[in-house]
Amino acid sequence: MSTHTTRTFDPTRVAHLSGPFAPVTREVDEVGLRVEGRLPDGLDGAYLRNGPNPRFSPIGSYLYPLDGDGMLHGVWIHEGTVRYRNRFVRTPGVLAEERAGRALWGGLESMVMPQEPDVPADLAGTFKDLPDINVVRHAGRLLALAESSCPFRMSPELDTLGPETFDGALPAGITAHPKVDPRTGEMVVFCYGLEPPFLTWSVLGPAGEVRRGPTPVDTVDEPMMIHDMALTARFVVLVLAPAFFDIDAAMAGTGSFVAWRPERGTRILLVPRDGGPVRQAADDAYWMWHTVNAHDADEGQEGGAPGQGGDVVLDYVQWDHLAMGPASGGPNPGGLVRAVISPEAGSMRRTRLDDAAIELPRIDDRLIGRRHRRLAAASGTGARDLLPGEHDALRWYDLQRGGSELWAAGDLAVGEPVFAPTPGGADGEGHWLTLATDRTDGTSWFLVLPADEPESGPVARVRIPVRVPLGLHGTWLPTEEPAPG
Ligand SMILES: [Fe+2]
Repeated sequence: MSTHTTRTFDPTRVAHLSGPFAPVTREVDEVGLRVEGRLPDGLDGAYLRNGPNPRFSPIGSYLYPLDGDGMLHGVWIHEGTVRYRNRFVRTPGVLAEERAGRALWGGLESMVMPQEPDVPADLAGTFKDLPDINVVRHAGRLLALAESSCPFRMSPELDTLGPETFDGALPAGITAHPKVDPRTGEMVVFCYGLEPPFLTWSVLGPAGEVRRGPTPVDTVDEPMMIHDMALTARFVVLVLAPAFFDIDAAMAGTGSFVAWRPERGTRILLVPRDGGPVRQAADDAYWMWHTVNAHDADEGQEGGAPGQGGDVVLDYVQWDHLAMGPASGGPNPGGLVRAVISPEAGSMRRTRLDDAAIELPRIDDRLIGRRHRRLAAASGTGARDLLPGEHDALRWYDLQRGGSELWAAGDLAVGEPVFAPTPGGADGEGHWLTLATDRTDGTSWFLVLPADEPESGPVARVRIPVRVPLGLHGTWLPTEEPAPG
C-alpha cells in the first residue's frame, strides 16, 4: 500500500475503477426481466448485494476494497417473475457530495476531509461513512454495513433510512460481518476502534434488542484492523492479524494508515459468549479477510453436544499478508485453511485444506456456528490475469467427501456465491446465487446454480438492465423463512 496525494492521484489509472469494477451512477427500476433457462420452483424472495461504487470520481486516493460509496443491487423473484432495483446508500456524506456535484472526501489513504462551508459543521473534518461492504437483515432491520463503523438502515425497497445506532447503544458501529446464530436468533458483532477500547463485542437479541452492550476485549490494547468473525455455541472467534492502524503516519504522509508487522504474529481470540475470560492462541503471521465458519469440535459428533468443552474448529481463507489495491495480487490470495484451537492449552494447529486461490467463501447460513460440510467461494481458472477481487470461476468444497468442484465462468466475472435453501428441502438442497458481469460486452447477469451439481453451471440466468460493478457481499432473503437445516 502506498500513500497518494491529491496532486498525483489520477482515478483513470486505478485498475479497481475500470473494466468490470467501474462504478455506475444510474439508478434503475425494471420489472419483468428476461430469464434464460428455468428458475427453480420455490425460489421466491430477494437477493441483495453491496459493493464499492463511488458516487463521484474519487479524489485523493482510492483503495479497493474499502473505499467507495455503497450501492445495493436487488433482484426480487416472485412466482417466476423477476425485478431489479439498485440504489446508493445515501449517507450524509453522499448527500453532501450530491449537493456539491463532486467528491468532497478523499480516499482513506489520502486523509482528505472536507471543511466548512463545503459541508455542514457536523461533517467537517470527519472520515466518510463507507457502508459499501455487506448487507444483512436481522430482527426486521435491513443494514448496509461498513468496516467497524455505523451501519445504515435501509428500507425493503433500498431507500436509505439513516444511521443505525441500535437505540444509541452501539454508537461506534459494528463490523461489516456480524454473525446471526440460527439457534438463538442472536446477532453477535464486534467493533474495533482507533481509541480505547480498541476492540469490543456486543449481542443483539432475536427481536433486535441489545442483550450485551459494547464489552471490551481487554487483551487488545492497540488499534488493529479485523474484518470478519465466526461463532460457535460457546465462543466468539476473532483472528487478530498484525495489521495495526497508524493514523499519525498517514496524516504525516510517511506511511500507510495500516501497517503490517509480521514480527508480531497472528493470534486467535476465543471470547466466551457467557462473558468468561478470553482465551487466545498465538502463531506465525498471516492475514484473514474472511472466515468460512467455526464450530465446537464436539458439535454433531456422536455423544457430543455443544458447550461441553473441547477444541474449536475454524475454517477460513488465509492470505500470506495483508494487501489491498492492485498490490494484493500475485501469490498472496488465499487458500482454504482449518485451524483447530484448544481453549484450555491456548494452542492451535493449522492445516491447509486446499491450495486453490479462493475468496468470498459462504456456507448455508443456517449452519453458522454448527458443523458444516459444504462451502462455496469465488475462485479462478488460471486462464487469465485477474485483479484482486476479480474471479472467473466458482468453487465448491465437500469437506466430508474431500476435493472440490469448479465451474469455469468463461467471460463472466463472478462474485460471492450465496446459498438459497429450498423451502422444506433436505440438508444441502438449494441453489447458489451470484451476480456476474461479462468482460467482453459489460452485460450483467444474475446466476442460479444448483447445489447438487453446481459444476454444471447455471440453470437460470437473468439479464440485469445495468452493468453491475464487481462487488462484495450479499444475502438471500426468502419470502418464507425456511426452518433451520
Ligand atoms: Fe468482507
